[in-house]
Amino acid sequence: LREHEEFTKVKNISRIELGRYEVDTWYFSPFPPEFSDCSKLFFCEFCLSFLKRREQLSRHMKKCDLKHPPGDEIYRNGTLSMFEVDGKKNKVYCQNLCYLAKLFLDHKTLYYDVDLFLFYILCECDDRGCHMVGYFSKEKHSEEGYNLACILTLPPYQRKGYGKFLIAFSYELSKKEGKVGTPERPLSDLGLLSYRGYWTRVLLDILKKHKGNVSIKELSDMTAIKTEDVISTLQSLELIQYRKGQHVICADPKLLDRHLKAAGRPGLEVDPSKLIWTPYK
Ligand code: ACO
Ligand code: ZN
Repeated sequence: LREHEEFTKVKNISRIELGRYEVDTWYFSPFPPEFSDCSKLFFCEFCLSFLKRREQLSRHMKKCDLKHPPGDEIYRNGTLSMFEVDGKKNKVYCQNLCYLAKLFLDHKTLYYDVDLFLFYILCECDDRGCHMVGYFSKEKHSEEGYNLACILTLPPYQRKGYGKFLIAFSYELSKKEGKVGTPERPLSDLGLLSYRGYWTRVLLDILKKHKGNVSIKELSDMTAIKTEDVISTLQSLELIQYRKGQHVICADPKLLDRHLKAAGRPGLEVDPSKLIWTPYK
């Protein structure tokens, strides 16, 4: 696939229709060859089937009876819902999702092997159904300790705090597993900004509360953020020094507040008490 992509890395599909939105795409995505002559695709917002023409989509919508993603609803808070979809049990849905997501993800290869992943779909629900806002994928078993493979907020919903919600959610799952986690690399620019913002807020809130009397290991245990990410975040804020073979954290309240202000908005909050989930076995 990599090679094929290198040769044909021209953006083919330039626009999509999805639910009530028309969206300009960002990157190439390797849709099947029969779609190579299309500049626009029409997606069913529920099962993520994609079609060449609006009339085909209208016909599809008359017989498609999904009103939410397949899989299990594992979180509900007001109008926000999260569904867990198993790539093995709902293969076509997850493949469609990967085609769609690749339109907005650059240096990520498409997973044909969706079997090995779980997909967490964030929805805003109303009387018409549960509308996908974004998602992240997660390996069922990660050798490298990744708790998130790919993350996407659909462009019409970006910059409203959903990305930080998805990131927070990935760490809540890690806490339930009793593990620390880290996102798969490389991160995109927007991915890194979102993670940096999330890590900064979570870690500085704890440092403030504990008036600095907390170790890197404790920070990691409390947040499920891998120690390397704790250290790199504190280093980038110049809140950590390496003295006599040990990391020493600085927690001057004024400095913490200044960094917190600069860290951006908190994002939509995850209420862990509303998560009903057991780790994949
Ligand atoms: N310009 C500048 N900064 C931005 C922008 C933007 N257009 N969008 C997001 N950010 C930064 C900001 O710091 C923002 O925090 P703030 O609003 O408090 O300042 C922060 O990212 C996160 O904002 P959210 O609203 O919580 O996140 P959003 O819902 O926009 O989702 C995401 C972030 C998922 C990275 C989104 O931009 C996206 O889907 N991008 C395309 C796909 C992608 O790059 N995914 C990450 C790849 S790496 C990986 O998958 C492991
Ligand atoms: Zn459908």
